[in-house]
Amino acid sequence: MKTLKVGIIGCGNIFPMHAASVMERDDAKLVAVCDVKKDRADEKAEQLDTKAYYDYEEMMDTEQLDVVHICLPHYLHAPATAAATKRQIHVMTEKPMAINYDDAKAMIDGAKENGVTLGVIFQNRYNPGSQLIKNMLTSGELGAVKAGKLQVTWDRSDEYYQNSDWKGTWDKEGGGVIIDQAIHTMDLMRWFVDSELKYVDASISNRAHEIIEVEDAAEGVIAYENGVVTAFHAINYYTYDAPVEIELHCEKGVAKMVADKATVTLNDGRTFIADNNPLETFTYDSGVKGYWGVSHVKQINNYYDVLQGKTDALDIPAEEALKTQQMINAVYQSGKDKQRVHF
Ligand SMILES: NC(=O)c1ccc[n+]([C@@H]2O[C@H](COP(=O)([O-])OP(=O)(O)OC[C@H]3O[C@@H](n4cnc5c(N)ncnc54)[C@H](O)[C@@H]3O)[C@@H](O)[C@H]2O)c1
Repeated sequence: MKTLKVGIIGCGNIFPMHAASVMERDDAKLVAVCDVKKDRADEKAEQLDTKAYYDYEEMMDTEQLDVVHICLPHYLHAPATAAATKRQIHVMTEKPMAINYDDAKAMIDGAKENGVTLGVIFQNRYNPGSQLIKNMLTSGELGAVKAGKLQVTWDRSDEYYQNSDWKGTWDKEGGGVIIDQAIHTMDLMRWFVDSELKYVDASISNRAHEIIEVEDAAEGVIAYENGVVTAFHAINYYTYDAPVEIELHCEKGVAKMVADKATVTLNDGRTFIADNNPLETFTYDSGVKGYWGVSHVKQINNYYDVLQGKTDALDIPAEEALKTQQMINAVYQSGKDKQRVHF
């Protein structure tokens, strides 16, 4: 078994989830971290006893990396992935894949051409509640999905946007509440319905933020080839991150998810519940104890198991992330053009 040499690009908020997940493995070594903000890269390098870089291409060339994790602003996912794949470096990137479908598709093509594996984080698929609903759909216990609805009402304040040099912009973030926050819940719904997209009919608007260009509110429907029509509503001008809600009306019952807790009530009266296990914890940042969720580490473990030949396939192939990219970009297109987008 080869020890894979790993670098992480972007030492911001999400960095610890990737760094700790890599360091947990005995078949991978974090050899370098990179950030254009030197103080961030230096601090993480010192903390984790690794090397700091301020230019990701220099890091890739100097360290002869096997894998890079991309924890960058959305518009940089595609160019950083291209830089890696042309050097035959495997890529694990954060969501969303990119800010548009063509860039995301090019990431998949580049990985294929160069024989490397591209992973895209959608960690909430690993939550016990998500797994319960998916398993009961796959096994047929819930019957076919008839309809679905989801709601995301979170708080992303003016201060949140003021503190970022890329959030709140079309060219760097690629959108607002949909591409950044609601994308997880919309990806779960698409995964549950498990059918090709038929059309998207949506509206987007900025209702309560003065300092951003992108939408802070969106609603609409995602319709699928199997006839299912799902509704979504997402805002990020609420006063706290209220638990996200998903409901699926199925032939044999109703599945509900509130935050990460799923409750499935079958028509025959039986109820099944799954939630995060508070005993299943993982410490992502040194010195910071607490429950951050174990789903990043689960997805990253599956990714490394594939690279090491310990398992055959990614649980979440990049092609799956591409479909979600296509769905959210259709929300933007429909919202901007005020027209239904057909696939
Ligand atoms: N999966 C999740 O639940 C989750 C949660 C939070 C963030 N994210 C995703 O993680 C990614 C990063 O988000 P974040 O909140 O950590 O952002 P952030 O702004 O905190 O961090 C991004 C870092 O990238 C650095 N950077 C910018 N340009 C660079 C370049 N050319 N080379 C090297 N470094 C560069 C910035 O200086 C910054 O430190 C985004 O895609 C975001 O959507 C995912």
